[in-house]
Amino acid sequence: CGIVAYIGKKKARPILIEGLKRLEYRGYDSAGVALIEKNAISIVKSKGRIAVLEDLIKEKTDTATVGIGHTRWATHGEPNTVNAHPHSDFTGKISLVHNGIIENYSTLKQWLIKEGVAFKSQTDTEVLANLIGYFYAKPSENDSNHSFEKAVQRALDMVVGTYGLAIICDDCPDTIIAAKKGSPLILGVGQNEYIIASDASAIVEHTQQAVYLSDNEMAVVNNSGFYTKTIDDINITKEVKDIEFSLDAIELNGYEHYMLKEIFEQPTALSTCLGGRIDTVNNKIVLGGIANLTRELTRAKKFIITSCGTAWHAGLIGEYLIEQIARIPVEVEYASELRYRNPIIEDGTFVIAISQSGETADTLAAIEMCKERGAVVMGAVNVVGSTIARTTDCGVYLRVGPEIGVASTKAFTAQVAVLTMLAIELGRRKHVGPAQTAAYLKELQAVPGKIASVLNMAEHIKQIAIEYSAENNWLFMGRGLNYPVALEGALKLKEISYIHAEGLPAAEMKHGPIALISKGTPAVFVATRGSQYEKIIGNIEEVRARGGKTIVVATQGDDEIKRCADHVIYVPDTIEEMQPMVNIVPLQILAYYAAVHRGYDVDKPRNLAKSVTVE
Ligand code: G6P
Repeated sequence: CGIVAYIGKKKARPILIEGLKRLEYRGYDSAGVALIEKNAISIVKSKGRIAVLEDLIKEKTDTATVGIGHTRWATHGEPNTVNAHPHSDFTGKISLVHNGIIENYSTLKQWLIKEGVAFKSQTDTEVLANLIGYFYAKPSENDSNHSFEKAVQRALDMVVGTYGLAIICDDCPDTIIAAKKGSPLILGVGQNEYIIASDASAIVEHTQQAVYLSDNEMAVVNNSGFYTKTIDDINITKEVKDIEFSLDAIELNGYEHYMLKEIFEQPTALSTCLGGRIDTVNNKIVLGGIANLTRELTRAKKFIITSCGTAWHAGLIGEYLIEQIARIPVEVEYASELRYRNPIIEDGTFVIAISQSGETADTLAAIEMCKERGAVVMGAVNVVGSTIARTTDCGVYLRVGPEIGVASTKAFTAQVAVLTMLAIELGRRKHVGPAQTAAYLKELQAVPGKIASVLNMAEHIKQIAIEYSAENNWLFMGRGLNYPVALEGALKLKEISYIHAEGLPAAEMKHGPIALISKGTPAVFVATRGSQYEKIIGNIEEVRARGGKTIVVATQGDDEIKRCADHVIYVPDTIEEMQPMVNIVPLQILAYYAAVHRGYDVDKPRNLAKSVTVE
């Protein structure tokens, strides 16, 4: 979900709508805004995209300079207008937008109902609005008057769960209260104006200066300034920091979709990720963000890599790389499983958490659980200053700039690049000789250029995508390091084209999935030259023998492969350990064009959200 709120001298409505559009990639089931005009709050909400909301409010008057807005990814309650944010309390005085989950909402709701409070929606957020409204209407004896701020504090004190909040009250028409716990919230500080948002992309258009709230903190913002305190009322001073990216980074710049733009950005993004980290003079990798834990890393006896979705696929590649190059055992676990698994964490267990957004709730919970058990945790995160980046003991930023397309692309290649650098450096400190290290470094530097040459083949890949886009069942297969690449290729296709796709280790096919092959079933093989090349040729033949159509990603110059492939997509050769970063690119392009041809909204696939800040 996304939050944006504005207070200043300008008209709030267009700023809120613009901000919500920037945040739409975080959820787009429903949207709404609340504006304060002449001491009265007016709310407009709608099911569906921001464009629907924009249409709905076009006719209304537009003079308010204070307001809050929200775009939702549904958790409690279906995505309809009633359940959309902002939510008001039972008195109509308080309105708020909320990201996160109120875990004890049912207990609080029962209590409020007993106190005579009526409810309109099924959401946990309305419970919070009513709780604030209740305390505002009934100030305690210690409060000298009806204090908006006190009511917020008393309500939040009773809440178990997570929240990023922007709250308004019609008695205080020039105040917005923002509060945070476990869900990101940033206060943009402009010239006589303030923009509160759940991520910086809704702020950078107005200002590059911001205050990053921490958990259990709130900001009380009015026209002339703001102050910050903890939820339990201790005044605090927060530093105003620079936001690290510009508006340009989040524009489409002529591309039809963010996903396509981000696929094509990969050579530059990867160069930035690798930049300054490959030290060819001293023949080593330099990762500043983990320098303070060099000793622990070198002595690690076991790694646990944890993440979700695409980042989990990057983790699987990391497992192969760290075991292969550094010879240290690695376990890869979905964060949602790890957090409830009672894992064995001993002296020497080092955890690596991978996340584009740095906000994924399951990954965060897994990190916290591992830390409680004594593990040292490293992050591989894209969003600077995100919760995971701050929670981990050390980390390596991906440095690929904002990723807006819901289906992750450039963040994936950078996650793999970071794990590759880590594996090489760990290997170098242990047993990999200088000549081999030098060869790794040289190849790694060449990867962005090799990706660029894959991008030149986009038109050829597009034709294949179009030819098979009507097929509703696809298989993606690879062996060794190409197996996670196949998983990621299948996920990309599923996410944006709604085609059922299964990724699997090619040799496993004969133990079940081969039953899915019938005449014309598209089977994508990632079969670049490497240690298992001969073996995968056998698997390709098995599919052909059963009438499947084979689309093969192969090494440039491999003419032999044409004998068993219906279509070949050639990619440049590199050493086997670096091949995944190159091989995934044609599969991203394939998925993109299949979805476009089927007529779907690639950047906002149904039911998905870019960053999942709920369990
Ligand atoms: C969501 C996104 C995926 C992403 C996953 C993990 O499901 O739709 O694209 O891979 O979350 O996100 P993270 O930000 O932790 O990498």
